[in-house]
Amino acid sequence: MIKAGIIGGSGYTGGELIRILLNHPNATIDFVFSTTRAGKPLSSAHSDLLGQTDLLFSSEINPNVDVVFLCLGHGNSTKFLEENTFGDQTKIIDLSNDFRLKNNAIWSGKSFVYGLPELNKASIQKAGAIANPGCFATAIQLGLLPLAKAGLLQNEVHTNAITGSTGAGVSLSATSHFSWRNNNVSWYKPFTHQHLGEIGESLASYGNSVGKLYFLPNRGNFTRGILATSYTSFDGTQEEAEQLFEQFYAKTSFTHVSKDPVHLKQVVNTNQCHVHLHKHDDVLLITTVIDNLLKGASGQAVQNMNLMFGFEEQEGLQLKAGVF
Ligand SMILES: NC(=O)c1ccc[n+]([C@@H]2O[C@H](COP(=O)([O-])OP(=O)(O)OC[C@H]3O[C@@H](n4cnc5c(N)ncnc54)[C@H](OP(=O)(O)O)[C@@H]3O)[C@@H](O)[C@H]2O)c1
Repeated sequence: MIKAGIIGGSGYTGGELIRILLNHPNATIDFVFSTTRAGKPLSSAHSDLLGQTDLLFSSEINPNVDVVFLCLGHGNSTKFLEENTFGDQTKIIDLSNDFRLKNNAIWSGKSFVYGLPELNKASIQKAGAIANPGCFATAIQLGLLPLAKAGLLQNEVHTNAITGSTGAGVSLSATSHFSWRNNNVSWYKPFTHQHLGEIGESLASYGNSVGKLYFLPNRGNFTRGILATSYTSFDGTQEEAEQLFEQFYAKTSFTHVSKDPVHLKQVVNTNQCHVHLHKHDDVLLITTVIDNLLKGASGQAVQNMNLMFGFEEQEGLQLKAGVF
């Protein structure tokens, strides 16, 4: 059994990590650090954990855990690592965007590997530190990587994606307030969302030229999940598109190509990404669906942990979709 520590334990991604790791056959939770709830039971923040664990939130870390997950807002991961030292053997998985871009990937002698297994599996297996991808970035990249690899993403790409309210974290804001969010849909940060940088670096990593990506993010009136649609020009047939994507994802554990149109409920509460392709005139429409807190955050973080420690990639992540 490896020992895991979680920082930012009362937040949304921290809660999902606790839920997964409590049921992981090869990992045990050593501590859950919290700045606001030290000494209180985990169920004080995550009421569904009542009766599942006796663990209390802690104000102290164990610097010698095998793996530490940083579930902190942007900037706070760097600050936390500056103020707290972990042993040389401790592997770090950071869920923020502090170390995702190549320019920020080396910090204090540690080299952070971008943790998208569909792109970087071999590097993740050897990594000591992981920058876990963003949630929108995961959904969008999984819809575009096969085209980028084949050199078929040279023209403009238009992407529209909608996320649930948990994507914004546990803190209340005007746009996550029930009165605003319920029965409502809106866009934000048109064409300037912060995930564009990491998406651009991944798509360019195959060395083929890539067209400009126009990304419009939307806030949905549901709690979890991301549905992302992208379209770009494509000369091939529907069958050729499906063959390209099926080959790309033939050996991946969680990303699968669907012949039928996809919807959120088939992946919410799972670590799956489902991809659907639709050829129309001279464009290909690619739809991907994920759970923002699982494949978009904590599930992918545990998938990365599994790869780093040589466990089965699906260990602890064989989860059941909500469906109804
Ligand atoms: N939500 C998603 O769908 C999602 C998806 C992908 C990536 N991410 C990224 O994952 C990270 C965590 O997201 P989240 O949604 O879990 O956020 P969150 O719900 O706001 O939780 C963050 C937690 O961090 C702790 N914290 C706050 N300030 C801190 C500080 N200065 N030092 C140490 N701890 C501090 C707090 O927990 P305590 O009060 O217990 O200390 C807080 O609950 C973010 O960088 C986010 O962008 C989120």
